[in-house]
Amino acid sequence: MTLGPADTREPAEILSTGDRATWSVTAPSILTPRRRPPDRVAFGMVRTLFDRPRWLEPCHLYDERGSLLFEEICELPEYYTTRTEAAILEREAGTLMSLAPVECIVELGAGFSKKTVHLLKALSRARGRGTFAAVDVSATALMASRSMAEELFPELAFTGLEARFEDAITSITPDIPKLVVFLGSTIGNFTPTDMLHFFTHLCDHMGPEDYLLLGVDRIKEPEIIERAYNDSRGVTAAFILNAFTNVTRATGAGFRPEKITYRSSYSRARERVEMYGIATETHRVEFPRHSASFVWEKGEGILVETSRKFDPDDLQVLLRSFGLESLGHWTDPKRWFSLLLFRRTAPSGGMEPK
Ligand code: AVI
Repeated sequence: MTLGPADTREPAEILSTGDRATWSVTAPSILTPRRRPPDRVAFGMVRTLFDRPRWLEPCHLYDERGSLLFEEICELPEYYTTRTEAAILEREAGTLMSLAPVECIVELGAGFSKKTVHLLKALSRARGRGTFAAVDVSATALMASRSMAEELFPELAFTGLEARFEDAITSITPDIPKLVVFLGSTIGNFTPTDMLHFFTHLCDHMGPEDYLLLGVDRIKEPEIIERAYNDSRGVTAAFILNAFTNVTRATGAGFRPEKITYRSSYSRARERVEMYGIATETHRVEFPRHSASFVWEKGEGILVETSRKFDPDDLQVLLRSFGLESLGHWTDPKRWFSLLLFRRTAPSGGMEPK
């Protein structure tokens, strides 16, 4: 078979020419931005822990263990989101790829890219070649995603970007028409303010022929949602509490796992699940490298993750003000999860991207 241009694409070609020098190769086909100094990462963690109420950024959940625990969550009987979204994707992948006639898929927060297989299959079937770029903070997840892509789709060029969304979005070239895929309702893990910043930044960097596919978990009976985040095997608890191990490793903080327990609750007012580490007794947490400490009172929660639920119609209206025109909306028979497809158009006022 003769190789087309997409088949010969080098991993760095997904990045803007001017940005390539700011990334380095960490493993075959995997690139990462030349490192932020580790003390800045640690300082970011310490800063939010000294806010009131105390909280952590959700990206600190995903070290190797966190990525594996999340994969386990996706298989839990109570956690309906992954299998519901996968079923919609399997059913609609062909339609989606005909509405978004591109040769490149960029997946933000790719994880192990298990559900993306449906889209890659449709891409491969429709175009016979193309590019798949997976973005994730976890090297473990990217390596799993790379193995899957190399095994199942050798005709697609794979690039892994081990990076925060913001850094990847800044550096990905607007010159290759692409479908940006943001699945699993990961958008629900952002605070409302961070969500607006995310869409502003994304739309600033999307090219004129780019598309966005968004997977969102919908508002539904609270009992169903509460069960999904409080599973009987305690996998969600282990996933959330693992964040404290990560913070300890990165900052040298004196978190004591035996004095922290997991609690989650669904706030109807905010339409979100709130996941906390709670102190089981009052104790002092030391940060010797930062010459700081705080007293963690018994019963006080540190907010580790929030998971917002959406009304897809409201989201479509919001995203129109970012210059994202809706091309379609697909859901499951119970209307628990939605896939939304958008095309980048000129902004129509409201929150105009710069
Ligand atoms: C990755 N994210 C969309 C998951 C969610 O449902 O909010 C993370 C998760 N946290 C606990 N269970 C799942």
